[in-house]
Amino acid sequence: MKAYKILLITVLAVVSVSSKAQSSYTPSPENLAAREAFSSDRFGIFIHWGIYSMLGQGEWAMQLQNLNYKEYARLADGFYPSRFDAREWVRAIKASGARYITITSRHHDGFSMFRSAASPYNVVDATPFGRDVIGELAEACREEGIRLHFYYSHLDWGRTDYWPRGRTGRGTGRPDGTDGDWRHYLDFINAQLTELLTQYGPIGAIWFDGLWDMDARPRDEQPAIWNLDEQYSLIHRLQPGCLVGNNHHIAPFAGEDIQIFERDLPGENEAGYSAGQEVSRLPLETCQTMNRSWGYDIKDKDYKSAEDLIRYLVRTAGKGANLLLNIGPRPDGTLPEEALERLAAIGAWMDVYGETIYGTEAGCTGAREWGVSTQKGDVLYLHVLNPADVLTLDLPRKIKSAEAFPSGSALRFDQKRNAPAYIYLPQAPEGTVDQVVKVTLK
Ligand code: GLC
Repeated sequence: MKAYKILLITVLAVVSVSSKAQSSYTPSPENLAAREAFSSDRFGIFIHWGIYSMLGQGEWAMQLQNLNYKEYARLADGFYPSRFDAREWVRAIKASGARYITITSRHHDGFSMFRSAASPYNVVDATPFGRDVIGELAEACREEGIRLHFYYSHLDWGRTDYWPRGRTGRGTGRPDGTDGDWRHYLDFINAQLTELLTQYGPIGAIWFDGLWDMDARPRDEQPAIWNLDEQYSLIHRLQPGCLVGNNHHIAPFAGEDIQIFERDLPGENEAGYSAGQEVSRLPLETCQTMNRSWGYDIKDKDYKSAEDLIRYLVRTAGKGANLLLNIGPRPDGTLPEEALERLAAIGAWMDVYGETIYGTEAGCTGAREWGVSTQKGDVLYLHVLNPADVLTLDLPRKIKSAEAFPSGSALRFDQKRNAPAYIYLPQAPEGTVDQVVKVTLK
C-alpha cells in the first residue's frame, strides 16, 4: 500500500474514533434527574476564595502582576483565615434562597483549597491553618441541605508540567517543560477530580474553567488537548448524578450536562465572552458578580444594588436559566458585609416570590419591554420590571384568570379571538422591585 493511503486510512480511523467518542455520551437516569433538580434550583452562590484573596486584587493577581511562582506560593505560609466558619457561610447563603454553592476548589494559581494527596500545594499541607476548607464546607452544606458544586481550573499558572503553556501565566518565571509533562499534568487532574468526588459525598457539579487558555488551537482539537472525554467519563463514573459544566465560552462539547454563560444572560453578549456561544438545549447557568470582581478585591466597592440583583435573577429565570451569583470572601474568612446585606435582601424577596422562580421555565411571552415571564405548567408569572398600565400579550391559549401576586386580587383582562390579550395593572407601590402578575391559562 502506498504511504499516502496508509496515512489517509490512519487519519480516517483516528477521526472516526474521536468523533465516536464525542457523540457517544448518553446521560444516565441519575444524571437526567440531577439536571432537572439543577434547573429547578434557579439560584446558586459562587465563591471565589484562595490564597490570592490575601492580595486583595482578585483571583488574577498572579497573571496581572506577573508574580513569580515560587514567591507567590509563599502566600500559603501566611494563610490563616481566623474567622472562617463554614456553617456561618452556609446559613447566610441558604437564607438568600440559593439552593447550591459553587466554590473554587482550585483556581488558575494552582492552589488547592482541599485535602489533596496529588499535590502538597493545598490548604491542609501548605498553610498554618491546616484545615480542609472544602471538607468543612461540604459538611455544613450536608447539614443545611444545600447542594455543593466545585469550580476546577483546567489551566495552571504555577505548575511546571503545565507544558506547553497557554496564552496566560507566561510571566510567572517557571522553567520550560519537556515532552511528557502534559500527560503528567492530565494525570494530576484526574487524580484531583477523583479526590473531589470521593472525599466529600455527593457533588452537584464540576465547573471547569480555563480551557480558553489554549484557544489559539481550533475548537475541535480542544477535547483531545484537555482530555475531556476521559475527565467527563471519570466524573460520571464516580458520581453519575454529578453534572459537568465548562466555562469555555463556546458551544458545549459532548459529555457536558449544563451550559455556562459568563456575565451575560443566555443569548446576549454584552460582556463579550459569549460571541461563539449558541444557546443549547442543556440546562443553562449565568454567572455574575455582585460588585465587579470574582476574587476579593479590597478596592472594589462597586456593588450592584440588591434590587438590581433581584431583577437580574428574575431576568435570568425569564431565560430559563440559573443565576450563579458570586461572593469573594476576605482573607480572614468572612463574607463582606455588602454581600451579606444583599444575600439577606434577596432572601426576603425569595421568601415571598420564590414560587415565581423555583421550578419554573422561561415563560411563553419571551422578554418584552415591560419585563419577562416565567412559567410552571398552566401558570404564567409576568414579571413587570418596567412600570406599565397595561400589558399587551400574544398568548397561545385563553386566559382563565389574572391576579396580582402575592395578594391574589383579581386583575381585569380582555382577550378577544385572534387579537392580543390585555391585562390592566394597578399602580405598583413606590419601590416595587418586580410587579408580578399570576396568569392561569385555560
Ligand atoms: C473567568 C475568569 C476566572 C473566573 C471565572 C468565573 O473565566 O478567568 O477568574 O473564575 O471567569 O466565571
